[in-house]
Amino acid sequence: SRVRHYKFNVVLRKATRLCSTKPIVTVNGQFPGPTLYAREGDTVLVKVVNHVKYNLSIHWHGIRQLRTGWADGPAYITQCPIQLGQSYVYNFTITGQRGTLFWHAHILWLRATVHGGIVILPKLGVPYPFPTPHKEAVLVLAEWWKSDTEAVINEALKSGLAPNVSDAHTINGLPGSISNCPTQRGFTLPVQRGKTYLLRIINAALNEELFFKVAGHKLTVVEVDATYVKPFKTDTVLITPGQTTNVLLTADRKSGKYMVAISPFMDAPIAVDNKTGIATMHYTGTLATSLTTNTNPPPQNATQIANTFTNSLRSLNSKNYPAKVPLTIDHHLLFTVGLGINPCPSCKAANGSRVVASINNITFVMPTTALLQAHFFKTKGVFSTDFPGNPPHKFNYSGPGPKNLQTTSGTKLYKLQYNSTVELVLQDTGIVTPENHPIHLHGFNFFEVGRGIGNFNPKTDAKKFNLVDPVERNTIGVPSGGWTAIRFRADNPGVWFMHCHLEVHTTWGLKMAFLVENGKGPQQSLLPPPRDLPKC
Ligand code: C2O
Repeated sequence: SRVRHYKFNVVLRKATRLCSTKPIVTVNGQFPGPTLYAREGDTVLVKVVNHVKYNLSIHWHGIRQLRTGWADGPAYITQCPIQLGQSYVYNFTITGQRGTLFWHAHILWLRATVHGGIVILPKLGVPYPFPTPHKEAVLVLAEWWKSDTEAVINEALKSGLAPNVSDAHTINGLPGSISNCPTQRGFTLPVQRGKTYLLRIINAALNEELFFKVAGHKLTVVEVDATYVKPFKTDTVLITPGQTTNVLLTADRKSGKYMVAISPFMDAPIAVDNKTGIATMHYTGTLATSLTTNTNPPPQNATQIANTFTNSLRSLNSKNYPAKVPLTIDHHLLFTVGLGINPCPSCKAANGSRVVASINNITFVMPTTALLQAHFFKTKGVFSTDFPGNPPHKFNYSGPGPKNLQTTSGTKLYKLQYNSTVELVLQDTGIVTPENHPIHLHGFNFFEVGRGIGNFNPKTDAKKFNLVDPVERNTIGVPSGGWTAIRFRADNPGVWFMHCHLEVHTTWGLKMAFLVENGKGPQQSLLPPPRDLPKC
């Protein structure tokens, strides 16, 4: 294993999309940002220098950060932000992971343009558990707003209403010419006839779960969230914000150009968004006068297609890559996730109320100093550890729900002993409207042992859990009006954020954190903070 050094200069750059130009925050002037390459076992040092007026931090989404929570990145959770003119070196070792992940800004809505891929290759000499591809390509899916994204969310917070949806969906930074700006070009992926490619697909969008299709070609899914899965063939990939999916594609046509399309999956029935992002796959050296477009992007509410995809995911669970599902459970938790309506006298546009979001009816309040520091230095009064393991009210969670169920608020953490095991049922609520919630847990991978529609029933549903080869990941789509059950082992001491990866829901408060205590043995405690850790 080696040590890899990267330098991320965070700078403003003018960018033109959809025939209009605006300044965006970027890493090294690139959008999407640079891809970080490493091998399993490598140590990565990224020096981030902030040259913009926004406070900033960067998260290495899905990297386990064993004992190095100081390098995880969520602002005010594991670190204070890096201020203008300051720098911070993120220093972490990649342990027991290989595959595709991504990095992104973890403060405000800067993730919109501050993101890029992470490619972790297997250790030298270790092959993929699938046929070696001819070439690999990283495809970063995202969203584009013509206006300034900070202005979009600030306006929404003032009004109490939902923010505007984006103006385009992008593949590697480009929307493609389907937009209302005909000269806008899309990304082109060159392929050679007969060869097989590994596509590393990343959903870096702020607020859209996405379908991904390539006209005239089948995709073989081989990995999600940097864990290998049992390969299966599909026409359509479903990928939520925060998820990554590796697929093999064989260029088994003769020639021509084929449309690569992304389109939203029912994220918010209140804000219908049917835009498609377009790229082109081109058989090199062949004439391509027209584009094969028979991708038929699924309709926004194509729940059937989404379910078929999700239900096909299984851990590879091979001799080399066993699924280590916890079989005995110390903490049985049920967390409701959903939206609520709280009073807001100044919110005229929303009739004196505003949309909020919560977990177990608690709208998380961000502290003004970092939780991990408060934990390490035992600073009192920053957080409490009384996050409830169950919702405060029993009701028909997935139904219309009791009216006017207001949320409470607080900076509450749930405490876990080192190496204890957790089963967490994430239950969507329909208090305002049922919605999908891609829930991301920092510092861990978990196994999705079950999912269903309606209310979770501990008696009947738990009997059907898959404890043999459930998919292992770091971000899970809780189905609209349903639930999902995950299991993990708390073997990483520190403070670990868990939140909805739809940025608007995080902003509204759909977030909390686990506090994992140090173990008693050697190498079971959080390392001390690095000397250049930013101060608040
Ligand atoms: Cu990818 Cu807490 O985020």
